[in-house]
Amino acid sequence: MQKLKILFRYIAYLQQAKSKFDIHSPFLFDLVTKVLEDSRIYPEYEKIENLKKNLLKSEQTINVVDLGAGTSSGDKNTRSISSITKNSSKPFKLGRLLYRLSKYYAPEHIIELGTSMGLSTAYMAMGNPAAKVVTIEGCPNISKVAGENFKLLGIKNITLINGNFNEALPSVLDSGKKVDLAFIDGNHLKEPTIKYFEQFLANAVNDTCLIFDDIHWSDQMQEAWNHITNHKEVSLSIDLFFMGLVFLKKELSKEHFILRF
Ligand SMILES: C[S@@+](CC[C@H](N)C(=O)[O-])C[C@H]1O[C@@H](n2cnc3c(N)ncnc32)[C@H](O)[C@@H]1O
Repeated sequence: MQKLKILFRYIAYLQQAKSKFDIHSPFLFDLVTKVLEDSRIYPEYEKIENLKKNLLKSEQTINVVDLGAGTSSGDKNTRSISSITKNSSKPFKLGRLLYRLSKYYAPEHIIELGTSMGLSTAYMAMGNPAAKVVTIEGCPNISKVAGENFKLLGIKNITLINGNFNEALPSVLDSGKKVDLAFIDGNHLKEPTIKYFEQFLANAVNDTCLIFDDIHWSDQMQEAWNHITNHKEVSLSIDLFFMGLVFLKKELSKEHFILRF
């Protein structure tokens, strides 16, 4: 039933999605032509994607504590690295987009909620090696594998925090750290998603970009996305179906775009 709903939403998205020829804002036109449509193959893609291919073949199993949507809090089970990678990691197309967003906007501080195997973290961290990246993951054994993956990739600009977003995010933000880029990819429920959005807003600056994953994945996520796009501090919101991008730039007039990607 849920899958059918997502399919209908995807068809509606395709019908409404606009192309760059419908865009008037120079900021959005640049984003489309220089980031979304950048089809160059960066060497970092291959490194991350080779690691992903190895993880998909791994028969190692770990005990997993799941704190996110769709499970009772703290559910435990044994899962293979290969199935976690298959089910949690973004497809190459979206990972590469995270890399290009990080490369193009050169954020100083990146915060990610939901590390899993660390692949999306790697795309963002390698997109801008000068960035300081903080990523939060609730499951200790998943965090351990992510940490090993960062070492395998030789990435030095990531701080990995093992903890529940609900406690770990406020303590990261309480240090006054400004948020230039945030990727919210875990606990896909309405109230927590809105709460994380509001927490990020408190440390946001004019150029902050917030990225939400799976905005049409469920009714709750759809409602959270509607709430966020209607928020008075959001000037530009972009629906790419599998991800939503939010900008707060005060110089832009409020617009919501559904873009073909
Ligand atoms: C979809 S996966 C992240 C995938 C990763 N960003 C990628 O694309 O490679 C979501 C992760 O968030 C973690 N998570 C969910 N809810 C959480 C919470 N409340 N606190 C901490 N971690 C949580 C899960 O353990 C899971 O590993």
